[in-house]
Amino acid sequence: MDLSQILSQAQKEVSELKNTQQWEELYRKYLGKKGKLSDALIVLKDLTIEERKKQGQSVNRLKQELLQIFAKAQDQLKDSFESGQRFFDVSSPAVKIPQGHSHPIMQIRQQMEIIFGSLGFSVVEGPEVTSEYYNFDALNIPSDHPARDTMATFWLGQNDQRPEPTLLRTHTSAMQVPYMECHQPPFKIIIPGMVYRYEATDASHDYQFYQLEGLMIDRDISIANFKGVIDVVFQRIFNRQVRTRLRPGFFPFTEPSFEIDLSCVKCQGKGCTLCKQTGWLEIMGAGMVHPNVLRSAKLDHSGWQGFAFGMGLGRIAMIKWGIDDIRLFFSGDLRFLKQF
Ligand code: DAH
Repeated sequence: MDLSQILSQAQKEVSELKNTQQWEELYRKYLGKKGKLSDALIVLKDLTIEERKKQGQSVNRLKQELLQIFAKAQDQLKDSFESGQRFFDVSSPAVKIPQGHSHPIMQIRQQMEIIFGSLGFSVVEGPEVTSEYYNFDALNIPSDHPARDTMATFWLGQNDQRPEPTLLRTHTSAMQVPYMECHQPPFKIIIPGMVYRYEATDASHDYQFYQLEGLMIDRDISIANFKGVIDVVFQRIFNRQVRTRLRPGFFPFTEPSFEIDLSCVKCQGKGCTLCKQTGWLEIMGAGMVHPNVLRSAKLDHSGWQGFAFGMGLGRIAMIKWGIDDIRLFFSGDLRFLKQF
């Protein structure tokens, strides 16, 4: 078969191609090891040097032309395949794009910010790395105070730039004095944030957890104001009729101090496994700000007074959604997180 015949036959066959499998077969037929082009090359060896030179050039030209024809056909097949997928195959299943959402603790935080915001509280944030002074001493917890033992601490050490010992804050209360040092009362703030404790974990303790601190300072603030605020907050967070009660407690930075209980959201106070048959759930600590704390912030404690409270947002989320292990929140387990 002469070379021009090979070319015209190839052109004809390529023009009838329907898919890539046919393309591959045809490519082999013309350009493969035992293809037509190889046949044409084998014949060269029987020719004289002169003829071989001439014929060789022609075979080479044929090879280039064939390569071009096949490359073009391949592009066309690819185009029609892709456009067919994109624009015409309406039955092909859509690709599902995974969608994220906010973490359950963040959902509680956002709700808290909205509710406290509607009561006139501002949201304040502070550093997770703080000083021994702000975390303890300024809050009336000197180094020999037994309350320090209840807050096992991740110490970060000292250096030339930081001559004072630093630590990961063990509670958001660490932000109380820094805030009061540069803001003149009256004010009401909440301070949400992560806190850390160097301790063994179990279903209700983790070494990192989220707290929400509250602080309200004014001239005539009483425990009644505090109760009024938290009653509204918990009604709205749990979206039902709930009651709170104050029990005597102890915190060095408040006097008097309280433990706050919430009427059980599951049994409405009748007694169930969630509230261990007591009808009440422990929900947070609180109290009237201790004069020594106001003194640390250089506030005139005879004129200003107020309340403070601190709660774990994980605890609120656990009660709200019936979660029984606090470690799930930061386990990174998507099977858990996707439920919220
Ligand atoms: N800081 C306390 C804790 O982490 C919680 C707390 C109790 C905060 C009483 C307060 C408070 O502001 O008044 O256990």
